[in-house]
Amino acid sequence: MTAKRYTVTAALPYANGPLHIGHLAGAYLSSDVYVRYLRLMGKDVVFICGSDEHGAAITIKAKKEGTTPKAIVDKYHTLIKETFEKLNVSFDIYHRTTEQIHHETSQDFFRALHENGSFTEKVTEQYYDAKHDQFLADRYIKGTCPKCNHDAAYGDQCENCGSTLSPTELINPVSTLSGDHPELKTTKHWYLSLNNDTEWLSEWIDKGTLDGEQHHNPKEWKNHVLGQCRSWVTDLQPRAMTRDLDWGIDVPQEIEGSEGKKLYVWLDAPIGYISATKQWAKDNGKDWELYWKDKDSKLVHFIGKDNIVFHCIIFPSILKAVGGYLLPDNVPANQFLNLQGDKLSTSRNWAVWAHEYLEDTKETITNNIDVLRYVLIRNMPEQKDSEFTWENFKELNDSELTGKLANFINRVIVLVNKYYDGLVPEFDDSLPVFSGKEEGKASSFANELKAIEQLINTCGKHIEAYDFRGGLKTVIELASLGNQFLQFNEPWKTVKTDPETVKTVMNLSLQIVEALSVTLQPFLPGTSQRIRTLLNLGALENGAWQGLTDDLAKESLRVTANHTIGKPLHLFQKVADEVIQEQIAKLGQKDEGEATLEPIKEEATFEDFMKMDIRTGIITSAEKVRKAKKLLQLKVNIGLEERTVVSGIAEHFAPEDIIGQQVLLLANLAPRKIRGVLSEGMVLMAENSKGELGFVQPTDGFGNGFIVR
Ligand code: MF3
Ligand code: ZN
Repeated sequence: MTAKRYTVTAALPYANGPLHIGHLAGAYLSSDVYVRYLRLMGKDVVFICGSDEHGAAITIKAKKEGTTPKAIVDKYHTLIKETFEKLNVSFDIYHRTTEQIHHETSQDFFRALHENGSFTEKVTEQYYDAKHDQFLADRYIKGTCPKCNHDAAYGDQCENCGSTLSPTELINPVSTLSGDHPELKTTKHWYLSLNNDTEWLSEWIDKGTLDGEQHHNPKEWKNHVLGQCRSWVTDLQPRAMTRDLDWGIDVPQEIEGSEGKKLYVWLDAPIGYISATKQWAKDNGKDWELYWKDKDSKLVHFIGKDNIVFHCIIFPSILKAVGGYLLPDNVPANQFLNLQGDKLSTSRNWAVWAHEYLEDTKETITNNIDVLRYVLIRNMPEQKDSEFTWENFKELNDSELTGKLANFINRVIVLVNKYYDGLVPEFDDSLPVFSGKEEGKASSFANELKAIEQLINTCGKHIEAYDFRGGLKTVIELASLGNQFLQFNEPWKTVKTDPETVKTVMNLSLQIVEALSVTLQPFLPGTSQRIRTLLNLGALENGAWQGLTDDLAKESLRVTANHTIGKPLHLFQKVADEVIQEQIAKLGQKDEGEATLEPIKEEATFEDFMKMDIRTGIITSAEKVRKAKKLLQLKVNIGLEERTVVSGIAEHFAPEDIIGQQVLLLANLAPRKIRGVLSEGMVLMAENSKGELGFVQPTDGFGNGFIVR
């Protein structure tokens, strides 16, 4: 912790959907813990984030929702920003990449790279969707990953294995717009000559040195991050920094051939960290350049593992090419969080959405924000993929937050109120007490203070090493130390016979509660504040953690005699089973409003349509087809005659419920034998995205045998 200044960034989320727990456990809670700790250590730090509002992620979502990219980013930027605020993620600025200052900053970068020869211009053949008149880069094209065989890799990246790809590497590519196999068409783009960076990048990654000068210590980087970096750096290819799109930042006009060309979203997005810093500096009378260029500043990027190549290779290469910028001191990427035994998936709605959780549980889970923060930090995928389950959520809430933390604090507050009417007593610090570590072991006030100090320092070391799980575990150990200390000294048994010792015991307990309010602050800021209120102490200021360890070293007490504390209150409480069951039941359920709709099929002519003979009819009988669990054998009256129809709806409807149902029947479909029964037509059904079926029928009582056209 020697740097003078810290620039901490958290990956800019795409403004194309709400935040889920995977986002939180990835880049946001980790960075928030780190930054809050730095502030408590009295450091100069700026914490940067914002919405990533360009790229195919946005335009594709707009198409799906039948609206404009601008409407999409406005909607989700607002939702995401509010969610972060509710969760107490303490950005100094939450910016957006559609802001003018960002467009200008990005174009300045493009100009600088263009002028200093970092680009090569290349005309290549790229996949093209003729139906939609669009080149297919990035998320506009999907196929099988050549590295891991994942069947839904994008044109720029496989989100399963994290590899960066180019569309031509995809096996069996298809357009995500039309579902067609794309054709090839030529187009010109500017490519960043990454292939020239192999040498310095490998030295910088492996040794942390640049031009012979030590920058960072690679031993402090996570293994999985180094591993990914090393595998990429051996095979760097020029990478296109522009796209043929109509949403994004224009290639600067004065550059020849700029027309219709936009910056690649992964060029503009990380520059967003810089434009956001500029805006923050403007708003707060600071100098942004110190945070990005001064040698005494430390740059740390918090991201998820799918962003590693962009932050460890491409962005550093851009920063170095433009010149004068710091490179990251660390990129403590997290791996992925799984959910209830399966991968998170937004399309299957296998996710816990942060805004929904907050709404669902505000009445049913005490201190719901911090319970979620706690569970996600305790299970953070720091070194490997990890898992969130609702059962574990309940377990951690009930046994650790309620059973250990809240229980200890509550006991102290209750006893001090009971014995001394809330007035912290004078005490004799030379009286012997029992240790909180081992039953029956003699100790002293000073000894116990040392034990507290040690745990606090251990916690700080964990945070400094980006080990937030370890940090949080240590805080719980501190609460456990407090619990044991009470348990072993049993003040409730000795308060009558040995009131002086009990004063000493209660006093030390209060010091532990105060220490908890400080050490919990990076992890559970709301709870920290509540504990301060219980103690009737003011809010924590910057530098408070440093202040606490200094005080402990001097044996200077933070809760002093004759101070009056507050009244007890439940910090956490057990979660009811129903609450957990409700959340489990919600997983994978789709809200129809949000349903993914299939693209419109290929054009059909009027003549094509007129070939179909669709008639109004009514089901007159229905029975199961033997040994076929999906099939019902129906009789449908279509006025002129009665048809036998075999229909695959047995899992959706009981035979007795559909007799008398009005239907539409495709009456001239070629008859077909199904399970030995001749089926003479098809009952028309609509199917929604949950796979539920609905009858399509004329107005009630319409009559049978009439033609639909
Ligand atoms: N929007 C990207 C994602 O969600 C992350 C962008 S990080 C930045 O994967 F560096 F580009 F900002
Ligand atoms: Zn892959």
